[in-house]
Amino acid sequence: MHSGKARAYTNIALIKYWGKADQAFILPMNNSLSLTLDAFYTETEVVFSEDYTEDRFYLDGHLQDAKATEKISMFLDLVRQKADSKLFAKVASRNFVPTAAGLASSASGLAALAGAAAEALDLSLTPQELSRLARRGSGSACRSIYGGFAEWQKGDSDETSYAEAIPSEGFAEELSMIFVVVNDQQKDISSRDGMQRTVETSAFYQGWLDTVPTDLSKAKKAIQKKDFQALGEVTEASALKMHGTTLAAQPPFTYWSAESMKAMSLVRQLRQEGLPCYFTMDAGPNVKVLVQKTHEKQVLQKLAEQFSREQLIVAHAGPAIQILPKEE
Ligand code: PMV
Repeated sequence: MHSGKARAYTNIALIKYWGKADQAFILPMNNSLSLTLDAFYTETEVVFSEDYTEDRFYLDGHLQDAKATEKISMFLDLVRQKADSKLFAKVASRNFVPTAAGLASSASGLAALAGAAAEALDLSLTPQELSRLARRGSGSACRSIYGGFAEWQKGDSDETSYAEAIPSEGFAEELSMIFVVVNDQQKDISSRDGMQRTVETSAFYQGWLDTVPTDLSKAKKAIQKKDFQALGEVTEASALKMHGTTLAAQPPFTYWSAESMKAMSLVRQLRQEGLPCYFTMDAGPNVKVLVQKTHEKQVLQKLAEQFSREQLIVAHAGPAIQILPKEE
């Protein structure tokens, strides 16, 4: 029996990844930059054994159906290939989220799976190799190998596409991200389908690509200088541009709901009132508000005037992936 267990934290992109250059290898069209967070994480244990006749996948204690298991099996095949193993596995994952808000993320899930499976088959991967492996499961997962800020270098091949940590000398630890959970329903259009449609059909997609390098260098400079305003401005701009591409797709779509717009307007209003905070959004209607810890309470209080306290989840910078002791 070969087992491994890992815990990985989710990350939210400040400069978004939006679009694949290669679907099979998950090579992105652009570099992206993220902050790993402490509030959401996944713990996964993988056991490979001669006794198993198929892969089995348990999520939060429940055995998953063939479709969900096939995704896991395809990822495990990559690990088996690397380790020259033919063993089937039992995978048990648990998502830790502060409320049952449907915020489980593919980033923490696939990063934890990569870490646990590699550990189980004694692959001894470097962080860079683990990041490459996690990327094959879900693009954003490659950034969850690191704590704090990380940049996914798009590269142009399986070997050259991976994330790296961006040291920030404590700046990441000065930040908070407040999640405004406006909808806990299953999203309509997955990030995978959404990005494919915009790459293939959106008249605005080239505009997105043209401005990413400048936004990325602005974000890295802001981190270096610990300049919150500059980081916030470019974070919000990157999200708005990404979401702009979806409006020009064929057929057009948006991840925004009326509640998302309410949260975004409130953030703008708070800024006008002198409270520095900025928003970002991903492939769903929830809004995430970037704020300094020093203003966290004030912003939270203002948000709580328009949203219920259960809709608001506070996160801070989170750690790198952890390999956990095996339960034997
Ligand atoms: O890697 P995925 O399929 O979880 O896609 C992530 C896409 C965004 O969340 C919208 C942006 C990002 O960089 O995380």
